[in-house]
Amino acid sequence: MNNPLLIETEPVSYIIGNDAIEKSATKFKEFNRIIVITDENVEKHCLPVFKQKLPSLIIDGVITIISGEENKSIHQLIYIWNELTRLNVGRDDLIVNLGGGVVTDIAGMAAATFKRGVQFINFPTTLLGMVDAAIGGKTGIDFARFKNQVGLFINPTCVIIDPIFLKTLEKLHWQSGFAEVIKYGLIMDRELWQKLEGKNYNDVDDWDTLIIKAAKDKIDIVRFDALEKGIRKNLNFGHTIGHALESYYLKSGHPVTHGMAIAAGMICESWLSSKIFGMECIHMDCIVKMIDSNFERFNFTKDEIPRIMQLMEQDKKVRNNKQNFSLLRKIGKAVHEVEVETDIIIKSLEFYIDRKKCD
Ligand SMILES: NC(=O)c1ccc[n+]([C@@H]2O[C@H](COP(=O)([O-])OP(=O)(O)OC[C@H]3O[C@@H](n4cnc5c(N)ncnc54)[C@H](O)[C@@H]3O)[C@@H](O)[C@H]2O)c1
Repeated sequence: MNNPLLIETEPVSYIIGNDAIEKSATKFKEFNRIIVITDENVEKHCLPVFKQKLPSLIIDGVITIISGEENKSIHQLIYIWNELTRLNVGRDDLIVNLGGGVVTDIAGMAAATFKRGVQFINFPTTLLGMVDAAIGGKTGIDFARFKNQVGLFINPTCVIIDPIFLKTLEKLHWQSGFAEVIKYGLIMDRELWQKLEGKNYNDVDDWDTLIIKAAKDKIDIVRFDALEKGIRKNLNFGHTIGHALESYYLKSGHPVTHGMAIAAGMICESWLSSKIFGMECIHMDCIVKMIDSNFERFNFTKDEIPRIMQLMEQDKKVRNNKQNFSLLRKIGKAVHEVEVETDIIIKSLEFYIDRKKCD
């Protein structure tokens, strides 16, 4: 078994790979007390593993929130602040965020705002958390039923990525994380795309390698552009339309996973890439095929497109009433800040519904 990968950067250090949890033991030394924030599923499946791997660590409090995107809310943020107050957490304590993207987003925001900032470490427990959500310092909650409407950029002191937690993850959430892995292949990492192409997430046998590769791709980008002023925007490929779809289904009371929405968004935005940058049809068809073989289709109709478009208008990527997209020139090469007119975006959603071959 290989040693986990250590990446020491300012202001975050990373430990990635098997036995990362054991290797993180020294990271707790300088703190007074340790408080874990988690959700009920992770408390059941992953907290025992965490404790077993760090037997000498004393945990002074566990705050358990309710799982699910619909609970990435102001109500749960207040609940966490109340619990931190009850436990009298101070700035010399450490918060351990143990969970998927919902936990790391909301608990990161709670830690960053409580008493003007308590330090925290992210221990992602989902594939999506390991390759994306726990890395890069974006924290926040959904508000007024819009995704990530309120939040802040604030980095954890460390991110500890140990695939051992994934043993209990449900298939649906493997699939969700797989969408973000595909995204790195498409925007920046052709070698990764070549490893993935034609694969179904159920058949992947080298997750450990893929997780390290995808997590490193994200770290490389956020190290360079922490506040999303430039190249980090490339990570938004699939997300302008994807977030609108995610909000749409959340609003309708039938939430879908983040990855499913982003996968659909990547189909629409690949179509935009072919129309705007002339991305070759052969590339677009490969992308659509890959996504269709891993993700079931959404069945929204053309009549629903105006409501999806309304949600897109709340997106943080909107400027001068035009939608700002990150698109592909080709597989492995993204471009950001591409302004796209509304009628072309609508056509991309129609393409999603009709799904004709590229011409
Ligand atoms: N901050 C960022 O940069 C960023 C990036 C991408 C996504 N996100 C956010 O991440 C969220 C989605 O994250 P997610 O896909 O991890 O979903 P999630 O946090 O909702 O977790 C999915 C489900 O799996 C359960 N779970 C987690 N780990 C488990 C384990 N090891 N075993 C068994 N069950 C487990 C959870 O309780 C939950 O029910 C969205 O809110 C999205 O907006 C944030």
